[in-house]
Amino acid sequence: MAERKTISLTSERLIIRLPEHRDIPEIIRFQRRNTAHFAAVFPSRPKGFLTTAFWRERIQAAHADATADVGYRFYMFAADAPREIVGTINLHQVQRGVAQYCVMGYSIDHRHEGRGLMLEGVERIVRFAFDDLNLHRVMANYMPSNERSGRVLRRAGFVVEGYARDYLLINGQWRDHILTSRTNPNWREPRPRRARRRM
Ligand SMILES: CC(C)(COP(=O)(O)OP(=O)(O)OC[C@H]1O[C@@H](n2cnc3c(N)ncnc32)[C@H](O)[C@@H]1OP(=O)(O)O)[C@@H](O)C(=O)NCCC(=O)NCCS
Repeated sequence: MAERKTISLTSERLIIRLPEHRDIPEIIRFQRRNTAHFAAVFPSRPKGFLTTAFWRERIQAAHADATADVGYRFYMFAADAPREIVGTINLHQVQRGVAQYCVMGYSIDHRHEGRGLMLEGVERIVRFAFDDLNLHRVMANYMPSNERSGRVLRRAGFVVEGYARDYLLINGQWRDHILTSRTNPNWREPRPRRARRRM
């Protein structure tokens, strides 16, 4: 059994945490009710996407990735209804060494669009990335047609840094993306680990 990681981040209206096996029925309901909403912006769903077995594996992998500090795949739950998933937010491709950056991804349930919940989630996870993970840069990329996503990033202080042609394969087509990021003004150099003295 892989090590379990407990991370729970709170904000005014959200609880952001790693998924647990008990969340699987709600994860499947969340994905099912948002099939059309996510279709244009996320890659095609793999085989078995709406099955318990698929999510058992995914959850195991999410905990293993967080333990290894390579990725943090969170769900956002409503603070006043803590079993209800309102969205997803993740930091993936965590790079250490001279890079100290990660890539952020997110989504909100179509029933909760237009309430500022995504912005609230982004602000909370950026604080986690900077203050707790001590990352130097959070990057986020969106398709030019996804204006809503662009507005969330702008409001959260992300700045446009470039334009990547044919950046991601979405539903069988290479799609251009606008590249943005936000950097950590309080980044601190990690103290070098002391070598253990040999007896
Ligand atoms: C992109 C996406 C997350 C944006 O969601 P969203 O609901 O527009 O974002 P927010 O939760 O921050 O809400 C912002 C809107 O709520 C409004 N709002 C209402 N109450 C608010 C509050 N208390 N605080 C802030 N904004 C509030 C804002 O005015 C804003 O509306 P506007 O953009 O029309 O001006 C969502 O459309 C989505 O999940 N899309 C599919 C997946 C996706 O595209 N993911 C990103 C891939 S790059």
